[in-house]
Amino acid sequence: VTAPTRTPAAVPLDPALVGSLEDVVGAAQVLTDPDVVASYARDWTGRFIGATQAVVRPGSVDEVAEVVARCRDQGVAIVPQGGNTGMVGGSVPLHGEVVVSLRRLAAVGPVDAAAGQLTAQAGVTLADVQAAARDAGWAYGVDLGGRDSATIGGNVATNAGGLRVLRYGDTRAQLLGVEAVLGTGDVVEHLGGLLKDNTGYALHSLLCGSEGTLGIVTAVRLRLVPPAPQRVAAILGMKDTSSAVAAALELRRTLPALSAAELMLSDGIDLVCRVTGSPPPLAGPHEAYLLVEASGTADPTGDLTTAVAALPGVEDAAVAVEPRRIDALFRYREGHTEAVNSLGVPHKLDVTLPNGVLAEMVDRLPSVVRTVAPDASVWLFGHVGDGNVHVNVTGLAPDDERVDDTVLRAVAEVGGSISAEHGIGTAKRRWLSLNRSEAELRAFAALKRALDPAGIMNPHVLVGP
Ligand code: FAD
Ligand code: MLT
Ligand code: ZN
Repeated sequence: VTAPTRTPAAVPLDPALVGSLEDVVGAAQVLTDPDVVASYARDWTGRFIGATQAVVRPGSVDEVAEVVARCRDQGVAIVPQGGNTGMVGGSVPLHGEVVVSLRRLAAVGPVDAAAGQLTAQAGVTLADVQAAARDAGWAYGVDLGGRDSATIGGNVATNAGGLRVLRYGDTRAQLLGVEAVLGTGDVVEHLGGLLKDNTGYALHSLLCGSEGTLGIVTAVRLRLVPPAPQRVAAILGMKDTSSAVAAALELRRTLPALSAAELMLSDGIDLVCRVTGSPPPLAGPHEAYLLVEASGTADPTGDLTTAVAALPGVEDAAVAVEPRRIDALFRYREGHTEAVNSLGVPHKLDVTLPNGVLAEMVDRLPSVVRTVAPDASVWLFGHVGDGNVHVNVTGLAPDDERVDDTVLRAVAEVGGSISAEHGIGTAKRRWLSLNRSEAELRAFAALKRALDPAGIMNPHVLVGP
């Protein structure tokens, strides 16, 4: 199976179905103008460009349920879509599916300040969830570069990770319940937020990371975390990749306030500086850079300084304590995504490596790529505190999968994961069996059949038709 990255034309839809969907959500909320729907059919990276005849924008859970029921009755496939910032071609209609956009489900609250929990509709952006938590005197534990566009429903559907997983865990670790429309058309709702609640299958956990293949998440119940207003961040210039990786792992042990540990390499830093016009973060060049952040209720600067001073391989450091300076340091890391995209359509591989082989594999991956694509450029960065490395490759045709194949096999061979945080989507489906046994894949298929018997929910993603 080779996943398509481009779809030439939309599958014609029965005009009666379009009319029927207009009856449900209102004519203005069924978009059919090719110029308008085009932006819903192209992914953020530009690698996956599909086509659709209709984008449906329901405004309530009942409308979502009715849209799903009518598509199910006609056997018409659906791609759920939030902010369309996904990186694995799962949010766009590569086989002409109807797009169901959740962005109109944008109500946040109530924030239960006493419980430290929040209920939000699926289309609320991550940034708005963070702001609502902050306004109530709490914080939300997940943060990532796409925060202004990515929706909380999309975060749940992909089990998004990001910059603070080593401190607070991934999206699943924040999730206490969901409201969702299953592929059957049934609405399930479990938003009570009880911390201890062993009353059977955890459907919210199952839907988390299911990438729109089992149903549409319409609302979520999230746990919040105590705010950590005292922050310090540093970019460390490291002797080499091994010392950067070793430093990240050591800081998890020696610096309890550690809240981020991100790897960058010298060519990535150069690229970000070139594209953004920023000065280099440190006076001289270094083979590897580690962005670290510590935070808490007490000033963690002393603890960070002591912990960093004990690390071997630190050649230089830029430390920031003011929020604006801290943000500027984070921009060197977060800027990698747009900077790489500016070079052309990237292949984005997002892997986890076991700690024991992490440094060696980061050093080896460029030569692994070069065995099949000698002229390609490799950009490595990532959430190294979690063993998560983003392997970005530019200079390849969008549908040339030789590098994807070689890298993902090399990662699986050493016991790594072919998808750390972005999901499988359509882009990685071909390689899922590198990480999952036949028995697991049979269980996946059985779950899919049970919750989406008509096979209409994102049928080309993750488990496949
Ligand atoms: P979409 O892209 O719209 O959809 C993603 C998948 O979820 C698709 O399969 C879609 O069908 C499904 N889906 C969306 N909404 C729903 C719903 N309500 N119900 C059911 N299924 C749904 N990701 C990380 O994990 N960590 C990062 O650090 C990170 N950084 C990023 C930085 C940038 C600059 C960008 C652009 C992206 C980044 N991402 C990161 C990727 C992306 O932001 C996440 O995958 C995010 O969770 C996707 O949310 P979305 O609303 O854009 O979902
Ligand atoms: C990141 O960590 O920057 C994101 O996952 C996005 C990317 O991989 O480019
Ligand atoms: Zn990431």
